Amino acid sequence: MPTKLEKFSQFKKFNNAFTYLYQDYILDTQPFHLFNQWNVHFFHNNHPIILEIGCGRGEYTVGLASKYPHQNFIGIDYKSNRMWMGAKYALENQLKNVAFIRTKVEFLDKVFAPLEISEIWITFPDPQIQKSREKKRLTHPRFLEHYKKFLKKNGIIHLKTDNDIFFNYTLETLKNLNITPLLYTYNLYQEKDNTELNEVKSIQTYYEKLFSEQGHSIKYCKFQLI
Ligand SMILES: C[S@@+](CC[C@H](N)C(=O)[O-])C[C@H]1O[C@@H](n2cnc3c(N)ncnc32)[C@H](O)[C@@H]1O
Repeated sequence: MPTKLEKFSQFKKFNNAFTYLYQDYILDTQPFHLFNQWNVHFFHNNHPIILEIGCGRGEYTVGLASKYPHQNFIGIDYKSNRMWMGAKYALENQLKNVAFIRTKVEFLDKVFAPLEISEIWITFPDPQIQKSREKKRLTHPRFLEHYKKFLKKNGIIHLKTDNDIFFNYTLETLKNLNITPLLYTYNLYQEKDNTELNEVKSIQTYYEKLFSEQGHSIKYCKFQLI
């Protein structure tokens, strides 16, 4: 297994892996070179692009990409040594519908143009449970506004988490914004007869596997920002 430093440097050379951090750019506001060009210049098709925010090692992104070859998947995280694993797997398995970007969620409106993204997965985000860190929760209204900048108008957001505080906060936030979730459950793995939820269970993230094995209930919510 390569060291952390070796993973950093290999990630930079993978042709399915990119970095967009402000310090890499001369102008803070300069968009990423594939902004508005992902379909044409990277995926070479017009299939929908689905984003996983905070993808960690990228198992979920590559899992979805293997299962749905007619959709494109991009995992983002600021830790490239973690995404190294997913990017390497995608290269070795010739998954052409996958990319990884080392960036911060805060910069995504410079990486993707308006309407460029069809769906977003937020998988086991840091729950930021202290009240003082509420603004950092990835379903805080300021982030929901941020996602609107690049998500299609009827685009879907999926959330998976094990954390009750974070999940309840998300449902409350949606309620305050007059958004009714399309679907949600407090215990995904107890749901047996719902085809859609069976689909949601069919691929697990690294944390999902870990928390499920530890007996935590996994929560899931699907919503639109309209
Ligand atoms: C708890 S891990 C979940 C990893 C993966 N989604 C899973 O379920 O196994 C949260 C991930 O979010 C990433 N992350 C946290 N804040 C971020 C931010 N502002 N921008 C990009 N990635 C972030 C972390 O680096 C970490 O890999």
